[in-house]
Amino acid sequence: MQHTTSLRHRVSAARTAAVLAFGTLAVAGAAMAQNYSPELIEKGRYLATASDCIACHTATKTKPMAGGHSISSPVGDIVATNITPSKSHGIGNYSEQQFADALRKGVRADGAQLYPAMPYTAFSLFTNEDVHAMYAYFMEGVKPVDEAPKATTSLPFPMNVRASMIGWNLLFANDKPFEPDPAQTPEWNRGAYLALGAGHCVTCHTPRGAMMQELASKSMSGAQIGAWYAPDITNSKTHGIGSWSVDELTTYLTTGHLPGKSQAAGPMAEAITHSFSQLNETDLRAISTYILSVPSHKPEDPAQRNRFAHGQATDATAGFRGTSFAEGMKQSGTALGAQIFTANCASCHGASGQGTQDSYYPALFGKSITGEANPSNLIAAILNGVDRETPKGGHVFMPPFGDQTNAMVPLKNEEVAALSNFLLTSYGNSAVSVTADQVQVIREGGAKSSLVLLARVGMAVGAVVVLLLLVLLAKKRGRARRR
Ligand code: HEC
Ligand code: HEC
Ligand code: HEC
Repeated sequence: MQHTTSLRHRVSAARTAAVLAFGTLAVAGAAMAQNYSPELIEKGRYLATASDCIACHTATKTKPMAGGHSISSPVGDIVATNITPSKSHGIGNYSEQQFADALRKGVRADGAQLYPAMPYTAFSLFTNEDVHAMYAYFMEGVKPVDEAPKATTSLPFPMNVRASMIGWNLLFANDKPFEPDPAQTPEWNRGAYLALGAGHCVTCHTPRGAMMQELASKSMSGAQIGAWYAPDITNSKTHGIGSWSVDELTTYLTTGHLPGKSQAAGPMAEAITHSFSQLNETDLRAISTYILSVPSHKPEDPAQRNRFAHGQATDATAGFRGTSFAEGMKQSGTALGAQIFTANCASCHGASGQGTQDSYYPALFGKSITGEANPSNLIAAILNGVDRETPKGGHVFMPPFGDQTNAMVPLKNEEVAALSNFLLTSYGNSAVSVTADQVQVIREGGAKSSLVLLARVGMAVGAVVVLLLLVLLAKKRGRARRR
């Protein structure tokens, strides 16, 4: 079973202070000795799992943490580096202080800035004690791989200048470790520490401003991340998950499947597979307790139904009974959608979208994915399928229907739109509709950011301001000389 004992530490103010005072001493001593206890290495492994380092830092399964995986950001692809203890290609020469700075401040050993694709804004909450354990794990629990991953090269100006991140960090990076709230229970504080730090739920679920900074005032209220939409997970009963219990959220984080409400695909399925499903139940319940206390900034609207209360079982064949299949496929709109559904989806999800009794093949009504006002996840799930594996839920797989080379029946944009519209009107939020253009955007991985443009305009504005200042200065000098 999972490793609860070494982790039953609670983040208390006194302890944090003690660690802050003695941390540096302990650090210097330990790094010299190069000999960490198995318990400490195990604690570090668990924290690294909770932080999902492996998801980003692994491209090849057989070479965990050796880097090479590209993280697509709105401004281009950023390649995660080799963080195995290889002295030639990894972080084998990192001191514990350098490791702490990379994790919490986004500064590399050579002093260069990391891009925020590495979630150091969330990891900044880590206590010194936990950074120490992770350092022990990365130095002695990870196998060194002496290989260089490909480099990040494709970023446009000015993002290709790492120093441009200094300004961003000054404005937006958090530089304070986690501060427990004495008014809350130790369980809530442990949950907040894990959700906001290691689990970095905020990185995906919190909307971002014009400069890609997380908007703290709208924490967890939903955000587009590439092709996918990380929904509102505040405790609002109408637009969040306020209707879920701690047990239900714990089940979702453990298996990625909460019968009757929601399943996880895309990046959430990855986070559950590699990270959340591997955590012990005590920690998952703590995370759930904290998340279900996060308030919404939007006013409740009692007239509005939440996204888990849309749609009902509806026989898809009713619309075209009596017409031949070939004839049906010539139709458009939801009639075409119903045909495509019957041909491709009904075998697993049922002719009325009711799923199977054990819900392995889920019902498509009463679900977040068809009830959500943002249709991105519905389109993305059809195009990309579902692939998730957890210790308690096993392997869950739905084939992708968008892949032109691998899909059994690759669906075109118009077909995915018609299918989505059929699903939305029959089983979901009928106020939402999907166009073929929207499908194309999701196929390409989501809308491109205007950030590059903004930064360029920003630099142009900056240059103009500097020029103006120089002109003013020159004038002043001229005047002074004339006087
Ligand atoms: C969401 C993806 C993501 C996660 C999760 C993540 N990293 Fe990173 N990390 C990156 C990327 C991308 C880079 C390279 C950024 C750059 O080149 O500016 C990076 C860079 C680093 C570096 C700098 C290495 C060097 O010298 O180039 C270290 C150290 C590091 N990560 C450690 C970790 C650890 C430890 C964890 C888990 C606690 C972790 N990362 C989790 C994406 C991630
Ligand atoms: C890498 C990005 C990412 C991270 C990190 C992440 N999520 Fe998610 N989350 C998503 C996406 C995308 C979805 C939508 C998945 C789908 O519908 O298939 C989602 C869905 C959910 C849902 C279901 C909501 C609904 O309406 O059905 C819950 C609950 C949730 N996440 C909680 C969390 C918690 C708690 C954390 C941190 C412990 C977390 N997530 C971390 C991206 C992320
Ligand atoms: C071979 C069986 C199979 C076929 C065919 C199939 N699905 Fe699925 N579908 C699944 C499984 C398995 C899941 C994942 C259940 C889970 O996440 O626990 C799933 C999940 C879904 C979800 C929910 C995804 C989420 O993130 O909540 C949607 C929507 C969906 N399928 C729609 C479709 C549509 C539309 C088609 C036809 C184009 C289709 N499925 C064809 C097996 C199938």
